[in-house]
Amino acid sequence: MENKRAGSTEKAKVHEKPEGKITLSVIKADVGGYPGHVSVHPHLSTRAKKHLEDEKAKGFLIDYHVSSCGDDLELIMTHRHGIDSEMVHKLAWEVFLSCTDVAKGLKLYGAGQDMLADSFSGNVKGMGPGVAEMEFDERKSEPVIILMADKTAPSAWNLPLYKMFADPFNTAGLVIDKSMTDGFIFEVHDVKANKKIEFSCPEEIYALLAFIGSTSKYVIKSIRRKEDGLVGAVSSTQRLSFIAGKYVGKDDPVAIVRCQSGLPAVGEVLEAFTTPWIVSGWMRGSHNGPLMPVSQREANPTRFDGPPRVVALGFQVCNGHLHGPVDMFDDPSFDHVRDEANRMGHFLRKHGPFEPHRLPADDLEYTTMPEIMKKLEHRFEKIA
Ligand code: F6R
Ligand code: MG
Ligand code: MG
Repeated sequence: MENKRAGSTEKAKVHEKPEGKITLSVIKADVGGYPGHVSVHPHLSTRAKKHLEDEKAKGFLIDYHVSSCGDDLELIMTHRHGIDSEMVHKLAWEVFLSCTDVAKGLKLYGAGQDMLADSFSGNVKGMGPGVAEMEFDERKSEPVIILMADKTAPSAWNLPLYKMFADPFNTAGLVIDKSMTDGFIFEVHDVKANKKIEFSCPEEIYALLAFIGSTSKYVIKSIRRKEDGLVGAVSSTQRLSFIAGKYVGKDDPVAIVRCQSGLPAVGEVLEAFTTPWIVSGWMRGSHNGPLMPVSQREANPTRFDGPPRVVALGFQVCNGHLHGPVDMFDDPSFDHVRDEANRMGHFLRKHGPFEPHRLPADDLEYTTMPEIMKKLEHRFEKIA
Protein backbone atom coordinates (compact mmCIF):
# COMPACT_ATOMS: atom_id res chain seq x y z
CA MET A 1 0.00 0.00 0.00
CA GLU A 2 1.46 3.36 -0.95
CA ASN A 3 0.69 6.66 0.59
CA LYS A 4 1.26 10.10 -0.90
CA ARG A 5 2.32 12.47 1.83
CA ALA A 6 0.61 15.87 1.84
CA GLY A 7 2.75 18.59 0.34
CA SER A 8 5.29 16.08 -0.94
CA THR A 9 5.81 14.36 -4.25
CA GLU A 10 7.65 11.55 -2.42
CA LYS A 11 5.84 8.27 -2.04
CA ALA A 12 6.21 6.71 1.37
CA LYS A 13 5.63 3.01 1.92
CA VAL A 14 3.15 2.36 4.71
CA HIS A 15 2.97 -1.18 6.04
CA GLU A 16 -0.46 -2.57 6.64
CA LYS A 17 -1.10 -3.45 10.24
CA PRO A 18 -1.10 -7.24 10.65
CA GLU A 19 -3.53 -8.88 13.02
CA GLY A 20 -2.33 -10.34 16.31
CA LYS A 21 1.04 -10.74 17.86
CA ILE A 22 4.34 -10.53 16.05
CA THR A 23 7.02 -13.16 16.51
CA LEU A 24 10.66 -12.22 16.10
CA SER A 25 12.83 -15.30 15.52
CA VAL A 26 16.60 -15.31 15.31
CA ILE A 27 17.89 -18.71 14.21
CA LYS A 28 21.58 -19.23 13.50
CA ALA A 29 24.02 -21.92 12.51
CA ASP A 30 27.60 -22.36 11.43
CA VAL A 31 27.27 -24.30 8.18
CA GLY A 32 30.79 -23.64 6.96
CA GLY A 33 33.44 -21.00 7.47
CA TYR A 34 35.93 -19.24 5.24
CA PRO A 35 38.81 -19.33 5.62
CA GLY A 36 38.75 -21.81 8.50
CA HIS A 37 36.33 -20.52 11.13
CA VAL A 38 36.63 -16.79 10.38
CA SER A 39 33.62 -15.66 8.37
CA VAL A 40 30.57 -16.54 6.29
CA HIS A 41 31.10 -16.75 2.52
CA PRO A 42 28.89 -14.25 0.63
CA HIS A 43 27.40 -17.09 -1.47
CA LEU A 44 25.86 -18.55 1.71
CA SER A 45 24.22 -15.25 2.61
CA THR A 46 22.95 -14.88 -0.95
CA ARG A 47 21.41 -18.37 -0.86
CA ALA A 48 19.76 -17.70 2.51
CA LYS A 49 18.35 -14.36 1.30
CA LYS A 50 16.88 -16.00 -1.78
CA HIS A 51 14.96 -18.54 0.35
CA LEU A 52 13.70 -15.96 2.82
CA GLU A 53 12.74 -13.53 0.05
CA ASP A 54 10.56 -16.27 -1.47
CA GLU A 55 8.90 -16.88 1.91
CA LYS A 56 8.28 -13.17 2.31
CA ALA A 57 6.77 -12.98 -1.18
CA LYS A 58 4.42 -15.87 -0.27
CA GLY A 59 3.42 -14.01 2.91
CA PHE A 60 4.77 -16.73 5.21
CA LEU A 61 7.29 -14.28 6.66
CA ILE A 62 6.45 -10.64 7.25
CA ASP A 63 10.08 -9.61 6.91
CA TYR A 64 13.62 -10.90 7.31
CA HIS A 65 17.25 -9.86 7.47
CA VAL A 66 20.17 -12.21 6.80
CA SER A 67 23.31 -11.42 8.72
CA SER A 68 26.49 -12.99 10.05
CA CYS A 69 28.91 -12.77 12.92
CA GLY A 70 32.22 -14.53 12.38
CA ASP A 71 31.43 -17.95 10.85
CA ASP A 72 27.78 -17.92 11.94
CA LEU A 73 24.94 -17.35 9.51
CA GLU A 74 22.07 -15.51 11.21
CA LEU A 75 18.45 -15.55 10.03
CA ILE A 76 16.42 -12.72 11.57
CA MET A 77 12.73 -13.22 10.75
CA THR A 78 9.38 -11.72 11.68
CA HIS A 79 6.12 -13.64 11.25
CA ARG A 80 2.82 -14.50 12.91
CA HIS A 81 3.35 -18.20 13.58
CA GLY A 82 4.44 -17.87 17.24
CA ILE A 83 7.54 -19.18 18.98
CA ASP A 84 8.61 -22.80 18.46
CA SER A 85 6.61 -22.89 15.24
CA GLU A 86 7.36 -26.15 13.45
CA MET A 87 6.93 -24.38 10.08
CA VAL A 88 9.38 -21.58 10.90
CA HIS A 89 11.94 -23.97 12.37
CA LYS A 90 11.60 -26.25 9.34
CA LEU A 91 12.17 -23.27 7.08
CA ALA A 92 15.35 -22.33 8.96
CA TRP A 93 16.54 -25.96 8.87
CA GLU A 94 15.96 -26.13 5.10
CA VAL A 95 17.76 -22.82 4.55
CA PHE A 96 20.76 -24.14 6.50
CA LEU A 97 20.66 -27.42 4.55
CA SER A 98 20.59 -25.51 1.28
CA CYS A 99 23.48 -23.30 2.46
CA THR A 100 25.36 -26.45 3.52
CA ASP A 101 25.15 -27.59 -0.12
CA VAL A 102 26.69 -24.29 -1.19
CA ALA A 103 29.37 -24.67 1.51
CA LYS A 104 30.16 -28.22 0.38
CA GLY A 105 30.39 -27.07 -3.22
CA LEU A 106 32.96 -24.45 -2.22
CA LYS A 107 34.69 -26.89 0.17
CA LEU A 108 34.21 -24.34 2.94
CA TYR A 109 35.59 -25.34 6.30
CA GLY A 110 33.34 -27.41 8.55
CA ALA A 111 30.52 -27.48 5.96
CA GLY A 112 27.31 -28.45 7.76
CA GLN A 113 29.07 -28.26 11.14
CA ASP A 114 26.01 -27.33 13.21
CA MET A 115 23.55 -29.64 11.41
CA LEU A 116 23.75 -32.33 14.06
CA ALA A 117 20.60 -34.27 13.16
CA ASP A 118 20.06 -36.36 10.02
CA SER A 119 16.61 -34.98 9.40
CA PHE A 120 14.27 -32.34 10.78
CA SER A 121 12.04 -33.46 13.63
CA GLY A 122 9.69 -30.65 14.55
CA ASN A 123 11.93 -28.07 16.23
CA VAL A 124 15.51 -27.00 15.49
CA LYS A 125 16.25 -26.83 19.23
CA GLY A 126 18.54 -29.68 20.11
CA MET A 127 19.42 -30.25 16.45
CA GLY A 128 22.38 -27.87 16.28
CA PRO A 129 21.20 -24.39 15.26
CA GLY A 130 20.81 -21.68 17.95
CA VAL A 131 17.42 -20.07 18.55
CA ALA A 132 16.18 -16.91 20.29
CA GLU A 133 12.52 -16.03 19.76
CA MET A 134 9.95 -13.73 21.31
CA GLU A 135 6.29 -13.09 20.62
CA PHE A 136 4.79 -9.72 21.49
CA ASP A 137 2.18 -7.10 20.82
CA GLU A 138 4.04 -4.36 19.05
CA ARG A 139 4.24 -1.23 21.17
CA LYS A 140 3.58 2.28 19.84
CA SER A 141 7.22 2.20 18.80
CA GLU A 142 9.28 -0.98 18.96
CA PRO A 143 13.08 -0.59 19.02
CA VAL A 144 14.93 -3.93 19.27
CA ILE A 145 18.56 -4.93 19.32
CA ILE A 146 19.75 -8.29 18.01
CA LEU A 147 22.96 -9.42 19.68
CA MET A 148 25.10 -11.98 17.86
CA ALA A 149 28.35 -13.39 19.25
CA ASP A 150 31.07 -15.61 17.82
CA LYS A 151 33.72 -17.81 19.47
CA THR A 152 31.97 -18.00 22.81
CA ALA A 153 29.10 -19.68 24.70
CA PRO A 154 25.50 -18.71 25.63
CA SER A 155 26.58 -17.60 29.11
CA ALA A 156 28.45 -14.72 27.43
CA TRP A 157 25.16 -12.80 27.83
CA ASN A 158 24.95 -13.38 31.61
CA LEU A 159 26.92 -10.34 32.71
CA PRO A 160 25.65 -7.88 30.07
CA LEU A 161 22.00 -8.93 30.60
CA TYR A 162 22.43 -8.58 34.35
CA LYS A 163 23.87 -5.09 33.84
CA MET A 164 21.09 -4.02 31.48
CA PHE A 165 18.18 -5.22 33.62
CA ALA A 166 19.49 -5.22 37.21
CA ASP A 167 22.49 -2.94 37.65
CA PRO A 168 21.61 0.70 38.43
CA PHE A 169 25.21 1.72 37.71
CA ASN A 170 24.62 0.63 34.12
CA THR A 171 20.94 1.38 33.65
CA ALA A 172 19.87 4.74 35.00
CA GLY A 173 16.22 3.86 34.28
CA LEU A 174 16.24 1.33 37.13
CA VAL A 175 16.61 4.31 39.46
CA ILE A 176 14.75 7.15 37.75
CA ASP A 177 12.08 5.62 35.46
CA LYS A 178 9.04 4.62 37.52
CA SER A 179 7.99 1.97 35.00
CA MET A 180 11.28 0.14 35.69
CA THR A 181 11.71 0.54 39.43
CA ASP A 182 9.64 -2.58 40.25
CA GLY A 183 12.34 -4.58 38.52
CA PHE A 184 12.49 -7.66 36.34
CA ILE A 185 12.10 -11.45 36.53
CA PHE A 186 15.10 -13.45 35.30
CA GLU A 187 14.57 -17.02 34.05
CA VAL A 188 17.83 -18.94 34.48
CA HIS A 189 18.59 -22.35 32.96
CA ASP A 190 20.92 -24.96 34.37
CA VAL A 191 22.18 -26.18 31.00
CA LYS A 192 23.86 -29.26 32.45
CA ALA A 193 20.94 -30.56 34.55
CA ASN A 194 18.29 -29.21 32.13
CA LYS A 195 16.41 -27.38 34.93
CA LYS A 196 15.17 -23.81 35.27
CA ILE A 197 14.54 -21.29 38.05
CA GLU A 198 13.23 -17.71 38.26
CA PHE A 199 14.64 -14.81 40.26
CA SER A 200 12.71 -11.67 41.08
CA CYS A 201 15.03 -8.67 40.99
CA PRO A 202 16.15 -6.41 42.56
CA GLU A 203 15.28 -8.29 45.79
CA GLU A 204 17.00 -11.49 44.65
CA ILE A 205 20.04 -10.11 42.85
CA TYR A 206 22.48 -11.76 45.27
CA ALA A 207 20.89 -15.17 44.69
CA LEU A 208 20.77 -14.51 40.94
CA LEU A 209 24.47 -13.64 40.90
CA ALA A 210 25.31 -16.73 42.96
CA PHE A 211 24.13 -18.80 39.98
CA ILE A 212 24.79 -16.77 36.82
CA GLY A 213 28.37 -16.13 37.92
CA SER A 214 28.94 -19.89 37.33
CA THR A 215 28.98 -19.50 33.59
CA SER A 216 29.71 -23.09 32.62
CA LYS A 217 26.40 -24.20 34.14
CA TYR A 218 23.89 -21.33 34.38
CA VAL A 219 22.55 -19.19 31.55
CA ILE A 220 19.98 -16.38 31.54
CA LYS A 221 17.18 -17.52 29.20
CA SER A 222 14.73 -14.63 29.36
CA ILE A 223 13.84 -11.47 31.26
CA ARG A 224 10.41 -9.95 31.72
CA ARG A 225 9.15 -6.82 33.38
CA LYS A 226 7.64 -7.49 36.78
CA GLU A 227 4.98 -4.78 36.49
CA ASP A 228 3.14 -6.35 33.53
CA GLY A 229 5.07 -9.45 32.40
CA LEU A 230 6.27 -7.72 29.23
CA VAL A 231 9.14 -9.70 27.72
CA GLY A 232 12.35 -7.66 27.57
CA ALA A 233 15.02 -10.13 26.47
CA VAL A 234 15.50 -13.72 25.30
CA SER A 235 18.65 -15.62 24.52
CA SER A 236 19.71 -18.86 22.87
CA THR A 237 20.87 -21.41 25.42
CA GLN A 238 21.66 -24.67 23.64
CA ARG A 239 25.06 -26.28 24.22
CA LEU A 240 26.08 -28.23 21.13
CA SER A 241 28.57 -30.34 23.03
CA PHE A 242 25.88 -31.54 25.43
CA ILE A 243 23.68 -32.42 22.46
CA ALA A 244 26.39 -34.23 20.53
CA GLY A 245 28.17 -35.63 23.63
CA LYS A 246 31.50 -34.35 22.37
CA TYR A 247 33.16 -31.18 21.08
CA VAL A 248 31.50 -30.09 17.84
CA GLY A 249 32.33 -26.37 17.78
CA LYS A 250 31.16 -23.47 19.86
CA ASP A 251 27.62 -22.39 20.60
CA ASP A 252 28.06 -18.80 19.51
CA PRO A 253 24.88 -17.36 21.04
CA VAL A 254 22.28 -14.82 19.94
CA ALA A 255 19.88 -12.68 21.97
CA ILE A 256 17.01 -10.29 21.34
CA VAL A 257 16.54 -7.23 23.56
CA ARG A 258 13.57 -4.84 23.35
CA CYS A 259 14.39 -1.28 24.32
CA GLN A 260 12.98 2.04 25.60
CA SER A 261 9.71 3.07 27.27
CA GLY A 262 10.09 1.20 30.54
CA LEU A 263 12.82 -1.13 29.28
CA PRO A 264 16.55 -0.34 29.12
CA ALA A 265 17.22 2.44 26.61
CA VAL A 266 19.21 1.56 23.49
CA GLY A 267 22.22 3.25 25.09
CA GLU A 268 21.75 1.29 28.32
CA VAL A 269 21.70 -1.99 26.40
CA LEU A 270 24.94 -1.09 24.63
CA GLU A 271 26.54 0.32 27.80
CA ALA A 272 26.50 -3.23 29.20
CA PHE A 273 29.22 -4.12 26.68
CA THR A 274 31.70 -1.47 27.81
CA THR A 275 33.36 -4.09 30.02
CA PRO A 276 35.11 -6.59 27.73
CA TRP A 277 34.50 -9.29 30.29
CA ILE A 278 36.19 -12.64 30.13
CA VAL A 279 34.13 -15.35 28.45
CA SER A 280 34.92 -18.93 27.47
CA GLY A 281 35.41 -19.95 23.85
CA TRP A 282 38.08 -18.49 21.61
CA MET A 283 40.59 -20.97 20.10
CA ARG A 284 39.23 -24.55 20.01
CA GLY A 285 36.47 -23.59 22.44
CA SER A 286 39.10 -24.09 25.11
CA HIS A 287 40.20 -20.62 26.15
CA ASN A 288 39.01 -17.64 28.13
CA GLY A 289 39.18 -14.27 26.44
CA PRO A 290 37.58 -10.80 26.42
CA LEU A 291 34.24 -10.26 24.67
CA MET A 292 34.96 -7.48 22.18
CA PRO A 293 32.07 -5.35 20.84
CA VAL A 294 32.65 -4.73 17.12
CA SER A 295 30.97 -3.46 13.99
CA GLN A 296 29.82 -6.03 11.46
CA ARG A 297 32.80 -5.14 9.26
CA GLU A 298 35.11 -6.09 12.11
CA ALA A 299 33.36 -9.31 13.07
CA ASN A 300 36.08 -11.54 11.60
CA PRO A 301 37.83 -13.26 14.50
CA THR A 302 41.38 -13.68 13.21
CA ARG A 303 43.77 -13.47 16.18
CA PHE A 304 44.07 -17.00 17.62
CA ASP A 305 40.60 -17.54 16.08
CA GLY A 306 39.29 -14.65 18.15
CA PRO A 307 39.10 -12.93 20.48
CA PRO A 308 35.37 -13.60 21.05
CA ARG A 309 33.23 -10.83 19.68
CA VAL A 310 29.74 -9.41 19.71
CA VAL A 311 27.81 -7.48 17.07
CA ALA A 312 24.63 -5.50 17.86
CA LEU A 313 22.10 -4.78 15.12
CA GLY A 314 19.42 -2.17 15.87
CA PHE A 315 15.98 -2.30 14.21
CA GLN A 316 12.71 -0.45 14.54
CA VAL A 317 9.92 -2.98 14.12
CA CYS A 318 6.90 -1.48 12.38
CA ASN A 319 3.88 -3.77 11.93
CA GLY A 320 6.30 -6.66 11.80
CA HIS A 321 8.63 -5.04 9.28
CA LEU A 322 12.28 -4.67 10.18
CA HIS A 323 13.59 -1.16 9.61
CA GLY A 324 17.35 -1.30 9.80
CA PRO A 325 19.77 -2.52 10.76
CA VAL A 326 21.94 0.11 12.33
CA ASP A 327 25.34 -1.36 13.18
CA MET A 328 25.36 -0.26 16.83
CA PHE A 329 29.02 -0.83 17.76
CA ASP A 330 30.21 1.03 14.67
CA ASP A 331 30.89 3.99 16.92
CA PRO A 332 34.21 5.49 18.06
CA SER A 333 32.85 5.63 21.61
CA PHE A 334 33.55 1.87 21.78
CA ASP A 335 37.17 2.26 20.59
CA HIS A 336 38.55 2.30 24.13
CA VAL A 337 36.62 -0.90 24.95
CA ARG A 338 38.18 -2.58 21.92
CA ASP A 339 41.62 -1.27 23.01
CA GLU A 340 41.08 -2.67 26.48
CA ALA A 341 39.88 -6.01 25.04
CA ASN A 342 43.01 -6.18 22.87
CA ARG A 343 45.26 -5.45 25.83
CA MET A 344 43.48 -8.07 27.96
CA GLY A 345 43.56 -10.63 25.15
CA HIS A 346 47.24 -9.95 24.48
CA PHE A 347 48.07 -10.47 28.15
CA LEU A 348 46.04 -13.68 28.36
CA ARG A 349 47.75 -15.01 25.22
CA LYS A 350 51.09 -14.82 27.04
CA HIS A 351 49.82 -17.67 29.26
CA GLY A 352 49.81 -20.02 26.26
CA PRO A 353 48.45 -23.38 27.44
CA PHE A 354 48.16 -22.33 31.10
CA GLU A 355 45.05 -21.49 33.09
CA PRO A 356 43.31 -19.10 33.46
CA HIS A 357 43.74 -18.51 29.70
CA ARG A 358 43.06 -22.17 28.98
CA LEU A 359 39.78 -23.37 30.47
CA PRO A 360 39.88 -25.25 33.77
CA ALA A 361 40.15 -29.05 33.42
CA ASP A 362 36.43 -29.71 34.09
CA ASP A 363 35.36 -27.40 31.28
CA LEU A 364 37.77 -29.06 28.85
CA GLU A 365 35.67 -32.20 29.17
CA TYR A 366 33.63 -31.04 26.19
CA THR A 367 36.57 -30.13 23.97
CA THR A 368 39.04 -32.34 22.12
CA MET A 369 41.09 -32.68 25.35
CA PRO A 370 39.57 -36.03 26.56
CA GLU A 371 41.14 -37.76 23.54
CA ILE A 372 44.59 -36.65 24.72
CA MET A 373 43.83 -37.84 28.27
CA LYS A 374 42.71 -41.23 26.96
CA LYS A 375 45.89 -41.67 24.97
CA LEU A 376 48.07 -41.15 28.05
CA GLU A 377 45.83 -42.75 30.68
CA HIS A 378 47.70 -46.09 30.76
CA ARG A 379 50.96 -44.37 31.70
CA PHE A 380 49.68 -43.04 35.00
CA GLU A 381 50.95 -44.94 38.07
CA LYS A 382 49.67 -44.78 41.63
CA ILE A 383 51.88 -42.69 43.92
CA ALA A 384 52.93 -44.85 46.84
C1 F6R B 1 35.61 -23.53 16.20
C2 F6R B 1 36.67 -22.54 16.31
C3 F6R B 1 38.10 -22.81 16.08
C4 F6R B 1 38.53 -24.25 15.93
C5 F6R B 1 40.02 -24.33 15.56
C6 F6R B 1 40.47 -25.75 15.28
O1 F6R B 1 34.36 -22.88 16.36
O2 F6R B 1 36.34 -21.47 16.52
O3 F6R B 1 38.89 -22.17 17.05
O4 F6R B 1 38.25 -24.97 17.09
O5 F6R B 1 40.27 -23.57 14.40
O6 F6R B 1 39.65 -26.29 14.31
P1 F6R B 1 39.86 -27.76 13.68
O7 F6R B 1 39.97 -28.71 14.83
O8 F6R B 1 38.63 -27.98 12.87
O9 F6R B 1 41.11 -27.68 12.87
MG1 MG C 1 33.08 -22.81 12.47
MG1 MG D 1 31.07 -19.47 15.13
